Amino acid sequence: MQESHPAPAAAPLTGRPVIAATGLYTPPESITNAELVASFNAYVDRYNAAHADEIAAGALAPLAHSSAEFIEKASGIKARHVLSKAPILDPEIMCPRLPERANDELSVMAEIGVAAARDALARAGRRAEDVDAVLCAASNMQRPYPAMAIEIQAALGIEGFGFDMNVACSSATFGIQTAADYIRAGHARSVLVVSPEITSGHLNWRDRDSHFIFGDVATAVLVEDAAIAPARHWEILGTRLKTVFSNNIRNNFGFLNRAHPETAAAPDKLFVQEGRKVFKEVVPMVAQMILDEAARLGIAPEALRRLWLHQANAGMNRLIAHKVLGHEASEDESPTVLDTYGNTSSAGSIIAFHLHSDDLAAGDVGLICSFGAGYSAGTVFVRKVH
Ligand code: COA
Repeated sequence: MQESHPAPAAAPLTGRPVIAATGLYTPPESITNAELVASFNAYVDRYNAAHADEIAAGALAPLAHSSAEFIEKASGIKARHVLSKAPILDPEIMCPRLPERANDELSVMAEIGVAAARDALARAGRRAEDVDAVLCAASNMQRPYPAMAIEIQAALGIEGFGFDMNVACSSATFGIQTAADYIRAGHARSVLVVSPEITSGHLNWRDRDSHFIFGDVATAVLVEDAAIAPARHWEILGTRLKTVFSNNIRNNFGFLNRAHPETAAAPDKLFVQEGRKVFKEVVPMVAQMILDEAARLGIAPEALRRLWLHQANAGMNRLIAHKVLGHEASEDESPTVLDTYGNTSSAGSIIAFHLHSDDLAAGDVGLICSFGAGYSAGTVFVRKVH
């Protein structure tokens, strides 16, 4: 924790954005692969028993068991944190049950966002009233309006403005570039990018191909002008964003579904993906993007001290890191958090950065990189100062 200090109003701004601090909220409950598979397989057994006649007549295909060994081998995931464990594991429910809150109560998405934001503010020694803007950047919003960011802003006591942005798994890096651009343009001195990811709400816990993928978390990144940032910070050397349309990761849930109540609960109103295609198409796209951006910034990719990559699949990260560094990356060079957090969408690379950056030395250069639905990808090259 740094000493609390106000952002001096008269400090001449540099227009150079830095990461002043990050924050993390981790839900206390966690589900292991063994627990998840036991619940899934109980659901499968009940389903197959309930439909035994149709299955025997060949009119319906039986469901197959899931396996903890497959999950860990295919993805690298061993467990995931969730906000609502018991209903997810109940074979009769298999989704989170988060009680509705009254309008005058803080909503659950704002609550975990505020917790992560407070952590970041405390680490920077920054008072909330000296922050100029809040971006809530996440792959799902709890409601369309009022914006989650404005509720978080109000809960923290921040003046200025806030708005929501959704670029799926790349939301946080897109948020960082947006915040950095406000600093570069002189429109703000201090911007909070908050990513509360309640991914358990969009995951189809009954789908064998994907039921193991996601976990819940919230992260926050405080982006500030170098003139007011605490002594310990990360210089943002360059940011780059990319999107290429693809249906291979898709969720058709939306406000127009209410016109068709009979289809509103269909599986395509949750997360669906062609995992193999995503793997094959996204790895080369992201590796090339990183190499191009490193060249533009005059950074030798093999000299990058650490990669904080999006946490979707350990195999994808191994391949991307290899293409960038030119050799098999060690855990020290490309740390994993998806083993205990699962895929936390846009928060994944920020968790990796938050948990695995204190040990780097002043002058070390690293990369925060996200990728996912859209397709979308974002790079943030950073250098440690102090
Ligand atoms: N338990 C046991 N076996 C399973 C299983 C499960 N839960 N799910 C699938 N399988 C089986 C399949 O039936 C298939 O069997 P077959 O070869 O006999 O047909 C086999 O495992 C391979 O299935 P596949 O879906 O091709 O697995 P995969 O190796 O591609 O791994 C992912 C699946 C999702 C882990 C992987 O594709 C991935 O991570 N892709 C990228 C995902 C990503 O980044 N998404 C972005 C989200 S934001």
